[in-house]
Amino acid sequence: MRVVPVATAADAVAADALAIGVAQGDRLSGDAIEVDRALDGVLGSMLSTSEFAGRLDEFQVVPANGRITARRVILYGLGPRGDLDGQRLRGAHQALVRAARAKHLKTLAVLRHDPIGPEGLQAVIEGCVMGTFEKRSRQTGTPDRGAVDELQLVGFGDGRDAEITLAQQAGEATNHARELQNMPANELTPQGLAEEAMRIAQRHGLEVEVLGPQELRDGHYHLLLGVAAGSALPPRLIRLRHRGATGGRVLALIGKGITFDSGGISLKDPAGMSKMKADMAGAAAVLSAIDVIAARKVPLDVMAVVAATENMVGPAAQRPGDVVVSANGKTVEVLNTDAEGRLVLADAITHAVQHGATHIIDLATLTGAAAIAIGHAGTAAVANDDELWGWVDEAARRAGDRVWRLPIYADYKVLLRSTIADLRNSEYGEAGTILGGMFIGEFVEGRPWVHLDIAASSWNTNVELTSIFRGPSGAGTRICIELAQLMVGPTR
Ligand code: BES
Ligand code: MN
Ligand code: ZN
Repeated sequence: MRVVPVATAADAVAADALAIGVAQGDRLSGDAIEVDRALDGVLGSMLSTSEFAGRLDEFQVVPANGRITARRVILYGLGPRGDLDGQRLRGAHQALVRAARAKHLKTLAVLRHDPIGPEGLQAVIEGCVMGTFEKRSRQTGTPDRGAVDELQLVGFGDGRDAEITLAQQAGEATNHARELQNMPANELTPQGLAEEAMRIAQRHGLEVEVLGPQELRDGHYHLLLGVAAGSALPPRLIRLRHRGATGGRVLALIGKGITFDSGGISLKDPAGMSKMKADMAGAAAVLSAIDVIAARKVPLDVMAVVAATENMVGPAAQRPGDVVVSANGKTVEVLNTDAEGRLVLADAITHAVQHGATHIIDLATLTGAAAIAIGHAGTAAVANDDELWGWVDEAARRAGDRVWRLPIYADYKVLLRSTIADLRNSEYGEAGTILGGMFIGEFVEGRPWVHLDIAASSWNTNVELTSIFRGPSGAGTRICIELAQLMVGPTR
């Protein structure tokens, strides 16, 4: 989709549709009033009669009949103004483009108007680009779902080309993460994730390293090897490095890359198990993000580390009760083989620390309990450092990708202990999302760290949540992109 700013007046825009966003209970304002006048007040009367109420996901198409140059006006709802944060603003524009595609509109003009504001440019573009996402169909004779070729931005001012490009990149990276999430586990294997990383490295001339079973044994990454033991496919520990600066902060973005999670010997219920092809959403997010960070040449040293493996059942699979030694020497009792994410992340974090990480973010579809604690509308987080948390929180706000920090209570540390090893990986009894995070926190060796549990936010399964896209979301992708920019600090 081309994204073009246009300087013409709203009633002189040449497009299949001119879209005007209206918050619930609002009246028209600014340029929308001129458009309404040209249409003999039909828009205003729809609002005053509540024929169009401005609810999120509400659309009203009004044919223009030659009274303005656009073929039609689409009123689209933004919901109550007080509820309109960056995530809902993106959601509304994603829905707008999906609606335009369903009507086979090719060119769509979005009018800047009161509730959106000039600073909403990024949200409008990212949301609209996300609206172009369509899962790649493997059906023969794929139905044509329509594509918007051109997005025109009306009334946002000019000289904003850089902002436009950045927002487009961020939206496309989000869609790429979603595409990776969607890929079946027989298509996207641990080696497939490594190849994805190598393509990114090649594109930008990044440093890339991929460790296989032999190197992992040499480096004592037994937590990762233990999870991989049940799979016929070899694991990969992937590291990409964008050296945008030297001598300053080194941001490590760590992604859980379980290309399929059967649970292992602690086998999952077959109902819904197919969704575990997306247990690599963290990997998808960090890879898609570093692609943009490198493309933008962000002046920060950033690495992406992905622990990639399947979690399968097989004659060599690890057993509940096994004790495994991590790459940094801690012993772990694996009480439940389905709590595999924290195991592979622990070794990935050790790897990042060994390569000089000063600040650590991990993204992982870690716990089903995240859906209990927070639900699908945001990402559950834990952090050991207020400054880094502050940056992540601000990055998430700018990205329109919600995070909410859960507490780390010292009282819970005792629950991580094993009777036979340093740590146990499960059976904590309560606070599953917090304790999953706290387990990972045992491996950061004093570095500032934020854990993002995207188990629920990366894939909405709740059909009643109509304001949130059903299926893969690419959660965390834009947060990482914004975070890298925020963390560009004084170089020492
Ligand atoms: N990948 C799952 C978590 C998950 C569940 C992601 C639902 C997306 C949707 C993770 O590996 C897992 O199995 N976690 C267990 C941990 C438990 C055994 C301590 C869980 O949440 O049940
Ligand atoms: Mn699991
Ligand atoms: Zn998992």
